[in-house]
Amino acid sequence: MIGLFDSGIGGLTVLKSLQEKMPNESFVYLGDTARLPYGTKSPETILRYTKQNVQFLKQQGVHTVVSACHSASSSILFYDLKDEDVDLYNVIEPSCSEAQSLTKTQRIGLMATQATVEGGQYHKRISTPLFAQACPLLVPLVEAGWINDPISEMVVEKYVTPLLADSVDVIILGCTHFPLLKPLIQKKVGSQVRLVDPGETLATLLAKKSIATKQSPQLKIFLTDESQHFVRLAQQILNDQNLHIQKIDL
Ligand code: DGL
Repeated sequence: MIGLFDSGIGGLTVLKSLQEKMPNESFVYLGDTARLPYGTKSPETILRYTKQNVQFLKQQGVHTVVSACHSASSSILFYDLKDEDVDLYNVIEPSCSEAQSLTKTQRIGLMATQATVEGGQYHKRISTPLFAQACPLLVPLVEAGWINDPISEMVVEKYVTPLLADSVDVIILGCTHFPLLKPLIQKKVGSQVRLVDPGETLATLLAKKSIATKQSPQLKIFLTDESQHFVRLAQQILNDQNLHIQKIDL
């Protein structure tokens, strides 16, 4: 059983990628919706929350914990957080390798939250020029469900324009919410720019190591705040109206 955590429900995009690549695996998902967003918080605070999230998932009996949240992954790498009981994966490292293998111009773009951009962890791991763009407005737009809205299109255009001016040919979607905007972002950057979805990249990596044999995989979802808004978003992202969600306190 694999545990995933995120600041909220956006990390369900990562869960979806993992489920697609590992259909027999069981998952426990923790969304820290009561303390969302992480992307505007300091690395110290995010680390404190991250440790509590990992602890909770360990209590559920998982053998692997995935930080689906890029802002939390950035903090994990910044503080070099390790755990002796479980394998701890983040969404940043695999996407750096993937982006480097895809670029032909050796110019890579990053779209992420403020915390992830300021954390500088992508810059540390990518040896070619990296152009980072904080895209804070995209998180609330996705949460409002404005995936195909003209306003989202304008905001995406504003964010990708500097990256295109820097002639990047690969852009890392460095935030849980951005894969939901992938068609819109692809439309704005054109087909010659490759988009890296870190959830998919990590799923490919984990699938190679998966040892799951169960024929009836389980999914447990825990949220620290269970508003109707989050429940609806979770149902939309996973395309499942019958999700069983439990509210917990950390
Ligand atoms: N999950 C966060 C991330 O991937 C985005 C939402 C937030 O700011 O908490 O960085």
